[in-house]
Amino acid sequence: MAATAKTAEHTLEKETELRFEAQAEHVKLRLLSGTAEIFGTELVKDRDYTFVLTHVAVFTWSGARVSLSGSFVGSYTAKETPMLSYLNTHAAIDRRRQQAAVENQRGPRVMIVGPPNVGKSTLAKMLASYAARTGRRPLYIDLDVGEGAAAIPGAFTAVSIDRPVDVESGFLSFNPVCYHYGDVEIGKSFRHFCAVVDKLAQIAQQRANKDAVIRSSGHIINTCDMNKEAMMYVHKTFEADIIVVIDNERLHNELSEATKEATVVKLFKSGGVVPRDQAARDQARIGQVKRYYYGAPGGDLKLNPYSFPVSFEHVKIYRVGAPQVPAACLPTGTDPHAHETQIVPVQPSPDLLHKCLTVSPATENWAAEGGSLIDSQGIGFVSIQNVDMATRQFTILAPAPYPLPSRPCILMLSGQSFSDAGS
Ligand SMILES: Nc1ncnc2c1ncn2[C@@H]1O[C@H](COP(=O)(O)OP(=O)(O)OP(=O)(O)O)[C@@H](O)[C@H]1O
Ligand SMILES: [Mg+2]
Repeated sequence: MAATAKTAEHTLEKETELRFEAQAEHVKLRLLSGTAEIFGTELVKDRDYTFVLTHVAVFTWSGARVSLSGSFVGSYTAKETPMLSYLNTHAAIDRRRQQAAVENQRGPRVMIVGPPNVGKSTLAKMLASYAARTGRRPLYIDLDVGEGAAAIPGAFTAVSIDRPVDVESGFLSFNPVCYHYGDVEIGKSFRHFCAVVDKLAQIAQQRANKDAVIRSSGHIINTCDMNKEAMMYVHKTFEADIIVVIDNERLHNELSEATKEATVVKLFKSGGVVPRDQAARDQARIGQVKRYYYGAPGGDLKLNPYSFPVSFEHVKIYRVGAPQVPAACLPTGTDPHAHETQIVPVQPSPDLLHKCLTVSPATENWAAEGGSLIDSQGIGFVSIQNVDMATRQFTILAPAPYPLPSRPCILMLSGQSFSDAGS
């Protein structure tokens, strides 16, 4: 849809939602009067919020007047939204938190599942912001590896929610704990997935053990398109006791039968959720990597990445997972899934151009010291902007200045090919 620059004021009646799409040009939104929120975070009056390449919904419980300016497309006001059921879900979760706080117990661990593109990430974000607005501090576990909302796609993250999610920069300003997964889809390597989920659950448990408010606030676990085996693995590992299923009756029934330890709740998808094709997902992923380095176009999170050369010798690159050998070719008794978690050195080559790497905290001698890169945390993510085979140097884009730590780097295998064209 073509966009032309314009300014428009909208008067929103109570419990309605203004939806619009911001394309490549900046769109500015301003709350002129009343109260309104974006995906659970309240807007401040008379402040400009800037959006690029995203779909936005401005919801008001009590009525509001807002102005939109820039090249926005497809704006309309929706009267039917599932917001009341989402708020009620938050209220029910919060009653459990309240009880947990009184009894100094662990709070509810809520997991959000459903088919692709039903608003899982949006609901998870909303529940996190509502929790923060109620004074809770849940841990937000982001397993939506295709989105990588707190880091870059290909990473799993855990974030301590101590304030509502930022309207413009999302989770990026939250100082997440990151783990390398390396792919934007779950399924190619279930073992690797399980190893990283185990690690995140341990970290979450440690955080909960240390802090009573975090403990009683529980978890909000966002997932992505995953099969039932993976869902059940997450449910068991995090001991999730509430599973919210969006928009899938059958999955709701199957999960209700599969678990007696969790309350399985069904919620409807919002009519505003936008279906995205592969091209739109790819564009969103590149946008997320760009925000990781530069911050969001609006808002307070302004970042400046650093670009510098590093010699091939300085960067030891590995990948998780070796090519699969047909079962018939394997010696008898060999584990057919062993290749999924095999660590393979990657040689410098032009194929690495624009690839992202997770910088691991492991030492250079990790293998000799009995360490592993399978469940490696990420201390940062760098992107290869140039490969010079003649001088044997990479040009690296990094969130921190030179030098690149002498740590093993793990290759992101798909979805984050990033060519830096400046901010
Ligand atoms: N009420 C709404 N109005 C307008 N846009 C919305 C609304 N709710 C969600 N969206 C947009 O729809 C898109 C898909 O939503 P979301 O990412 O939450 O879905 P998802 O189920 O998490 O997708 P995935 O399966 O890829 O993880 C996002 O761009 C989001 O901003
Ligand atoms: Mg999602």
